[in-house]
Amino acid sequence: MAVPLIDLHRQYLAIKDKLDKAVINVLEHGQFILGPEVSRLEQKIASLSGVKYGVGVASGTDALLLSLRGANIGPGDEIITTDFSFFASAGVVSRLGATPVFVDIDKDTYNIDPTLLEKAITPKTKAIMPVHLFGQMADMDPIMALAKKHNLIIIEDAAQAIGAAYKRKKAGSIGDYGCFSFFPTKNLGGAGDGGMIILNSQDRYEFLKILRVHGSSPKYYHRVIGYNSRLATIQAAVILVKLDYLNTWTEKRREHARKYDAAFKNRSIKTPVAKDYSYHIYNQYTIAVENRDELMKVMKEKQIGREIYYPVPFHLQECFRYLNYGKDSFPVTTKAANRVVSLPVYPELTSPEQEEVIEVVKSVSA
Ligand SMILES: Cc1ncc(COP(=O)(O)O)c(C=O)c1O
Repeated sequence: MAVPLIDLHRQYLAIKDKLDKAVINVLEHGQFILGPEVSRLEQKIASLSGVKYGVGVASGTDALLLSLRGANIGPGDEIITTDFSFFASAGVVSRLGATPVFVDIDKDTYNIDPTLLEKAITPKTKAIMPVHLFGQMADMDPIMALAKKHNLIIIEDAAQAIGAAYKRKKAGSIGDYGCFSFFPTKNLGGAGDGGMIILNSQDRYEFLKILRVHGSSPKYYHRVIGYNSRLATIQAAVILVKLDYLNTWTEKRREHARKYDAAFKNRSIKTPVAKDYSYHIYNQYTIAVENRDELMKVMKEKQIGREIYYPVPFHLQECFRYLNYGKDSFPVTTKAANRVVSLPVYPELTSPEQEEVIEVVKSVSA
């Protein structure tokens, strides 16, 4: 039986009537840019996250970029982030002329290791950007303590973690800025690109709203050079419909994760470690194995969806060669990048499909 890594069509069919209606409604009212659905979604996501404001932007990448700009980050500044994430987490820093400074990860959570952070702080450090990878939040208490001690801005990359929590605090709500992605395969995905920044500071909120419309306020009077980065109204309409299902879908993902955990117990498979402080939302269910090539080969033969997130740590990326990291700078990340495989964990995954994934993975593990 072939099992896809994710199947968005099933999700669409399950809520088709509501989605179709929401999209047609936007086509009818015609307020395609910053229409009423955008502000409704901003308010809802801010309130569900326990913060005051939300700012819908064109993508998760732009959520990070505009947050950095909002915090006045530019050439000469150093921004500390993890060595192990999707490219956007580091790319946005370089795009603004600032310098990304990478830190190794915790071997169990794959998130930035807070015990290594202080060593990376210099007089040029302006911000720390923890990434809540695979749906589990980084260990935020020590990160916030360091931010306070060194007067640093915290930008949470919560692109993979909407609905996750750290000691009951929602992803994106702890730092100065929290960034979400609505990329279609995220737990809350649109029908195209989209993103949002959440935050509590009114001043920063007002500035972000100006930044996303070319820096203009009032219209055609440009205070700063901004961006064209708005969440499309049609995307907001789609995401509003899906938001009502997010908790149910997250619980399904967690159920699948528990089933995998039990099935792979006592085998040579490292299963995800959900920390006590954490409500994990399993954007990915990522295992680590020593014989990954063999596992990938067999999964491919059996048509089981699989992906390596991420095969190359930042410090080994060609585009970051100019930062002059050594090959062995971050051993935990390098080891993870050579071993991880993500398995299908989407809410609509059926029991027989999951059994099939389990059987195939077990067939190549001792
Ligand atoms: C950790 C992380 N940061 C940032 C992004 C960027 O989001 P987007 O694809 O919406 O630009 C993504 C997702 O793709 C991500 O996984």
